Amino acid sequence: MGAVNTRKIIDMKGKEPIVMVTAYDYPTAKIASEAGVDIILVGDSLGNVVLGYDSTIPVSMEEMLMHIKAVRRGAPEAFIVGDMPFLSYEVSIEKAVENAGLMLKAGANAIKLEGGEEYADTIRQIIRAGIPVMGHLGFTPQSVNLLGGHRVQGKTNESKEKLLRDAKALEEAGCFAIVLELVVESVAKKITESINIPTIGIGAGRFCDGQVLVFHDIVGLSQMNLKFVKRYANTYEIMLDAIKKYREEVKSKLFPEEKHIFE
Ligand code: KIV
Ligand code: NA
Repeated sequence: MGAVNTRKIIDMKGKEPIVMVTAYDYPTAKIASEAGVDIILVGDSLGNVVLGYDSTIPVSMEEMLMHIKAVRRGAPEAFIVGDMPFLSYEVSIEKAVENAGLMLKAGANAIKLEGGEEYADTIRQIIRAGIPVMGHLGFTPQSVNLLGGHRVQGKTNESKEKLLRDAKALEEAGCFAIVLELVVESVAKKITESINIPTIGIGAGRFCDGQVLVFHDIVGLSQMNLKFVKRYANTYEIMLDAIKKYREEVKSKLFPEEKHIFE
């Protein structure tokens, strides 16, 4: 596979499903890249998944940059998207462009931000600076307090129309792809058919141009049971078992063995 770029990602629409994985560190980025995924997203979901926050709101630019650097070291050739954390792009366009630029300096190839037509100008200015932008519509976790919980979007006509307008606005602003999170399948399908850039779904059904899942959910390291997730392994159990065995063997003096010692 040749190196992925935004042109190739756009060209995959309607031809080949796009595979995106959210990963946060060196070993998981290495695994994702070796498995041949098209895009690695360093998502702000790292706040919940690896830092233990109860939402993505507390995640800082510094934390994002540290994880982007680690992912780049684990996947030197990958197409990496850095997720703009809460308050890194909302306050002013200047601040948004500067923070997006810091993500590229840390090793990302593109950035992602949450929001619709309200952010079209911000997105245009980030792109003007030479930074590709991925959009994010539907359930946008940074607005959880406004949306009143983790809700599937596109259920009412009003919500459906707003999503379609937003998707068009993001395409016109120059986004190279749009994440659709927790969107009614028929609405995600309609959006996918009405724009010329790829949609990448999570909990948005079967008709998006690509799919994204979080590494820890795919391998069963996270413990949440989410309807839209498919667990392909149960590494939580495997890790728990390993640590329990290690503990038992130290307690019972079975470890270290002769082969582990230095004469
Ligand atoms: O932070 C994240 O992992 C995301 C994806 C779920 C799209 O934004
Ligand atoms: Na995110």
